[in-house]
Amino acid sequence: MLALLLSPAVAAAQVPYRTVVIFGDTQTTAKGDPNQYADFTSQIRLIHLRVQLGVRLMPRNTATPNAASTSTLLRKLFDEEILVASSPLVFGEDDLTPGERQLVAKAVVSRRCEFSTGRVLARGLLRELGSETAELLRDSDRVPIWPEGVVGSISHCDDLCAVAIGDRARFRGVGLDVEPDEPVKEGVERVVCGPGESAWLDLAKGEERSRRIKMVFSIKEAVYKAFYPELRAFWGFQDVQTEIDLEGERFRASLPEGPEVREIEGRVVRRQGWILSAVTRRRT
Ligand SMILES: CC(C)(COP(=O)(O)OP(=O)(O)OC[C@H]1O[C@@H](n2cnc3c(N)ncnc32)[C@H](O)[C@@H]1OP(=O)(O)O)[C@@H](O)C(=O)NCCC(=O)NCCS
Repeated sequence: MLALLLSPAVAAAQVPYRTVVIFGDTQTTAKGDPNQYADFTSQIRLIHLRVQLGVRLMPRNTATPNAASTSTLLRKLFDEEILVASSPLVFGEDDLTPGERQLVAKAVVSRRCEFSTGRVLARGLLRELGSETAELLRDSDRVPIWPEGVVGSISHCDDLCAVAIGDRARFRGVGLDVEPDEPVKEGVERVVCGPGESAWLDLAKGEERSRRIKMVFSIKEAVYKAFYPELRAFWGFQDVQTEIDLEGERFRASLPEGPEVREIEGRVVRRQGWILSAVTRRRT
């Protein structure tokens, strides 16, 4: 059964698999325990927002992710030269190097699991790109320290992890975010959305309107992750405003001063119970 969950990149990594039991434990823990982000001490406000979002506290209606189909979705989000991989959260600290293991030594099991899955996927992709690295540590801002010449982004939520990497000579940055496609709790819109976005939300009703708030949130996270590693500037949710083309599965985001552009386009897909958002900053 587990073999069905393997993405090609994970299979290629040839790392021994965790058992189904651990995978189950991870899901259970992840759903009810926001403390998995206890090592994100500087992000208390974000944790609060995530609790409001209901990202990890609401039961999911969707089935366990099928890695092959989420990888297909991921592929749609990026230019061909960007390498992508996804997997359920099936890896653990045994799959980490001692240096990586130390980064999550005090974290709860679900956090270690999402971190490990990201590292395993990333290492597989780096090998594919010809930039193999012994370990993928992180800097004091919690940004992964990609090998020289590589840009990348990691995202994980309840039971899915996704990674995208590219050649720094061609790309200035990539940003990726994955979220369960679920309604948010009250109060999130006020924090995440601006007036233009609320007008777009008003075109929908009830649960669909609430899911759209989650989509705006996901897009802004992807945008942030595409720029932060280079700019090292914090952007709040109101600093970035989006226009979303649902049918075209695209968005445009206005940016604050700082980067080389004041606007960026990206892609967003919402299928199979997931929202996946992506930004590619191609060098001109
Ligand atoms: C950085 C941030 C966007 C991560 O998003 P998240 O939804 O909480 O978590 P995800 O699973 O999608 O991403 C986490 C991964 O992002 C990467 N990451 C962490 N901080 C990062 C940063 N500042 N920039 C880029 N990538 C970052 C890491 O690889 C991390 O996984 P790892 O610790 O296992 O390696 C979020 O924690 C944050 O700080 N947000 C505040 C700012 C913001 O979102 N502004 C939006 C307006 S533009």
